[in-house]
Amino acid sequence: MGKQKATGENLILKKMKLKGNSRRNFVRNGTLTGIGIGIAGSVTPDLISGSLKNIDIPAILGGDKVRTKGWPDWPQWNPATDEERVIEVLRSGIWSRRHTVTEFENKWAELIGARRCLTTVNGTNALICAVKNLDIGAGDEVITSPFTFIATPLSILQNGAIPVFADIDPSTEQIDPDKIEEKITSRTKAIIPVHIHGLPADMDRIMAIAKKHNLLIVEDACQAWLAEIDHKKAGTFGNAGCFSFQNSKHCPMGEGGAIVSDDEEYMDRCYSYHNFGGLKIAGSKMRLAEYQAAIGLAQLKRLEEQTNTRNENADYLRSQLQKIPGIIPHRLYPKVTKAAYHSFPLRYKKEEFKGLPREEFIKALNAEGIPCGSGYRAGLNTAPYIKDAFDSKNYRKMYSSEELDFDNYVAINQCPANDKYCNEENVKFTQKMFLGTKSDMDDIVRAIEKIYNNAGKLVSKL
Ligand SMILES: Cc1ncc(COP(=O)(O)O)c(C=O)c1O
Repeated sequence: MGKQKATGENLILKKMKLKGNSRRNFVRNGTLTGIGIGIAGSVTPDLISGSLKNIDIPAILGGDKVRTKGWPDWPQWNPATDEERVIEVLRSGIWSRRHTVTEFENKWAELIGARRCLTTVNGTNALICAVKNLDIGAGDEVITSPFTFIATPLSILQNGAIPVFADIDPSTEQIDPDKIEEKITSRTKAIIPVHIHGLPADMDRIMAIAKKHNLLIVEDACQAWLAEIDHKKAGTFGNAGCFSFQNSKHCPMGEGGAIVSDDEEYMDRCYSYHNFGGLKIAGSKMRLAEYQAAIGLAQLKRLEEQTNTRNENADYLRSQLQKIPGIIPHRLYPKVTKAAYHSFPLRYKKEEFKGLPREEFIKALNAEGIPCGSGYRAGLNTAPYIKDAFDSKNYRKMYSSEELDFDNYVAINQCPANDKYCNEENVKFTQKMFLGTKSDMDDIVRAIEKIYNNAGKLVSKL
């Protein structure tokens, strides 16, 4: 590969020398001086065969794409190794919770390093069950991150408690421990840190805060399968950790979730709750099905290897992107020994791209064959679903009208760092792009470099 690229560069240099160009001029004209991604890395067979012009023009303006091949599919499934167990379950006629679910739970507990695991219908209900069985409810405040999926605050509202939002550190995109401390009141009962995108939150600081203020911790690890802080898995730091196995997730089974904990009594309670409550408690029904567990068992065979591949590629991409002005890859909190990389986020600074708006940057990257998006929208911390809960009969019975004053709620739950991150800066690449090779990562770098080089042209065409 390297040899091919060098050969390509030499061919082009030969052509240019004939036209009186030197190597120095070529490098100066064709690349970002000093960012370390030389034009040699951008040489493709197209260039060698002579269409020099087109590859330098952004694809969105009619040039050739940096990448024409696709990306890995998701979810992944190998009929030869994955179907036998699922078919066995189907043919047994036992589709409701039995030994396949138990087998998956035992394996997940072992993999995560927790004493117990209970599966549930999905991650949302894992969170609801975990919160409920820690006796978090009416009158309690639960601090969480505004940069998450709506299921996190819903698990607080579904239990009759009040979500309180602590702003994020945009460099890690995780909840900022300093902001957590500012939000603690006499009503604070728990914190739900979210390891968003599988990039672990600072659990050292969060656990210290919890200890100091006697708070419970439910980790939303729904995107953090096998992520680690100092070799200890995300989801095993707090009183409970919750996971999702929904279709887009890294151990997909269509729908599914899990709670892990070392507290046997608590897990017995959660088990009972997820299975109607057994006449003793007012439970619900949240059971995983046998065929879902069979799919999960097949997915487990590839999870560790895929996680390692994602980490290798993400580390490489982060190191390359750091060299491009205006592109700030996420920072991993220093004690992270492994991330899950459900997404690879970065901060885009349009000032360095001649003012090219983020949405146009994303469109231009997509046109180059590099899928990416702008991530979560701002406003989860003040959106109408919270008012809807506050307006409900239950909330009006549980809280005073002052406590449910929504204008006041909005005023004290502002998260300006999260707003800026979501509205202006966040760009993310999805997990399946990290299952390939370094050369796939080079395509991402090359495409961004091309947009950087042509930012002025792109802005003038808006
Ligand atoms: C951070 C987070 N929490 C909770 C959930 C809920 O999981 P599920 O979709 O399995 O209900 C998700 C799912 O996307 C999530 O990303």
